Amino acid sequence: QAPKLTTHYELMDWAARFFQLQLRKHPSKQPVLDYIRSRGLDGDTVKRFGIGFAPDGWDNLQSQHKHNPAGLNVLTECGMLIAKEGGGRSYDRFRDRLMFPIRDRRGRVVAFGGRVLGDGTPKYLNSPETPIFHKGRELYGLYELKQQQRHPSRILVVEGYMDVVALAQHGIPYAVASLGTSTTSDQMQLLVRTSKEVICCYDGDNAGREAAWRAMETALPHLRDGVQLKFMFLPDGEDPDSLVRKQGQQAFEALVDKATPLSDYLFERMLSSADLSSQEGKANLANTMSPLLNQLPDGLLKESLFSRLERA
Ligand code: CTP
Ligand code: MN
Ligand code: MN
Ligand code: MN
Ligand code: MN
Repeated sequence: QAPKLTTHYELMDWAARFFQLQLRKHPSKQPVLDYIRSRGLDGDTVKRFGIGFAPDGWDNLQSQHKHNPAGLNVLTECGMLIAKEGGGRSYDRFRDRLMFPIRDRRGRVVAFGGRVLGDGTPKYLNSPETPIFHKGRELYGLYELKQQQRHPSRILVVEGYMDVVALAQHGIPYAVASLGTSTTSDQMQLLVRTSKEVICCYDGDNAGREAAWRAMETALPHLRDGVQLKFMFLPDGEDPDSLVRKQGQQAFEALVDKATPLSDYLFERMLSSADLSSQEGKANLANTMSPLLNQLPDGLLKESLFSRLERA
């Protein structure tokens, strides 16, 4: 029986510790430990990210709070229990999954991502929006990064939990994930406040390349002078997790060092579809690029990109 916790933060913290305990004590923990090992994670990394295990079953979580109806309500508000329609009994949202706690900037657990152990669907199940979790405002791994580096000189934005955790395991602690497909304006603002060099490093597939372009558009208004946005494009079929595991820290960081600056990315993409042999084609380019560049705050970057456009 769990003690009578009452606040959203207390109950989410308790849930995280409950899942961690299952990873140590549950009779069917072995396949989970094997899965963790198969993904190349060691005990330190598991501990640092507070990774746990939600066992199979409908009421592992709620049976711990049988005598705490207020707590059950809060767990439901937190998205950990799902109320059955018509007022029947609730059931646990996360079952038979590897659990990644999502912490806010102060280290409080506000949500979870749960990965199926193997090939089932959905691959990831996430907490819904709740009174303490707004997914467009959090960055997975930011709290853990700040524990290691107070003022990170650069920060990588990746797609997934496993990317953040695998990079950290390989000596690259400065990655965070944007919890879903696109990076929001709030997240961009937080990123450029955290580090002067922000490097988008999405998966080497079409979805990842589209995410890079959208991230660029979202970032423009936040790119005051002194902040650099860059892009890393991974080989087809790779993501940061698979690549760092194959190639190791040094090779991966060599790619980080060679990331494409915003200006080159922008012009390469725009010029590839432009016809610069005619005045019409040049005017067309200016017409598509100007609204983008106008999103930038006034400053040297904006001026130099406009003058590069004039010279194109
Ligand atoms: N995601 C999600 N729901 C899904 C699939 C993905 O919320 N059904 C989110 C998760 O945050 C996931 C991220 O999108 O971490 C990236 O998705 P994907 O590239 O498919 O996941 P990976 O992290 O590469 O998954 P894994 O390596 O564990 O197979
Ligand atoms: Mn709120
Ligand atoms: Mn992906
Ligand atoms: Mn991926
Ligand atoms: Mn992956």
